[in-house]
Amino acid sequence: MKKFFIAILLVLAPVAASAATGGVHLDEMAPDHANKESLQRGMATFVNHCMGCHSANFQRYERAAMDLDMPNELVQKHLIFGDSKVGEQMTIAMPQTDGAAWFGTPPPDLTLETRLRGEAWVYTYLRSFYKDPARPWGVNNVVFPDVGMPNVLEGLQGLQVNHCTPAEMAHQVKTIDPLTGVQMGGCLSIAEKGQLSVEEFDNTIYDLVNFMSYMGNPVKLQSQAIGYKVLIFLFIFFFFAYALKKEYWKDVH
Ligand code: HEC
Repeated sequence: MKKFFIAILLVLAPVAASAATGGVHLDEMAPDHANKESLQRGMATFVNHCMGCHSANFQRYERAAMDLDMPNELVQKHLIFGDSKVGEQMTIAMPQTDGAAWFGTPPPDLTLETRLRGEAWVYTYLRSFYKDPARPWGVNNVVFPDVGMPNVLEGLQGLQVNHCTPAEMAHQVKTIDPLTGVQMGGCLSIAEKGQLSVEEFDNTIYDLVNFMSYMGNPVKLQSQAIGYKVLIFLFIFFFFAYALKKEYWKDVH
């Protein structure tokens, strides 16, 4: 019995490890790969705002076009900058060594980022930059302290300030006032307005992280659909297997 409990604990250990976030509260993010419009908007944000620095080397434009219901010609025309072709991977021109020299650390490839950190982490991270004059880019981040990435979405979001101590930051809880759309509580608040309201910005980031989640697991919808079929098969097969078992054992007793 003791061994059984130890085995269960060992099985659960990786779950506990991956759930650890350094104590910072993460906002929930439930990806929806069936929402093609959201994924399309997310892809547009990704190619426009992230691919200056980050690649998605394991994702092909053409595969995304197919999965997200977009004609190849439109993707080639509106979502591919530079001379890449629609059949190619979403690579970037910036050499890793330049990235390391400019930012202290090269911007990592983001194809599998949501698999590594989880959707909630990426969703919270992208909305948690705040003003910090002590940092090279003038911003710091609540979930990734002393991050080397500038807040590339500041034009959309505006500039946030942080009015918590590091200890308080660990327990911040943010809510949006449903009437005014203004963010309540939490440590961060907008000091200089950007182009979007808090709610619009959150929606933009939701779509972006939804797209990143799709890239991390492009076959999720298919595997779920196959999963249902397998369960139905097993259910029907059970009756045949049971009948066969009865047939085999009927002379034994
Ligand atoms: C100007 C260059 C630049 C742009 C543009 C940029 N990033 Fe970054 N990003 C970086 C750098 C540099 C790092 C590494 C930071 C570090 O490790 O300190 C980084 C790190 C990250 C990380 C954390 C990676 C990790 O360690 O797990 C995520 C997630 C991320 N970026 C997402 C994005 C997204 C999404 C966009 C588009 C909205 C974007 N970045 C645009 C430079 C950039």
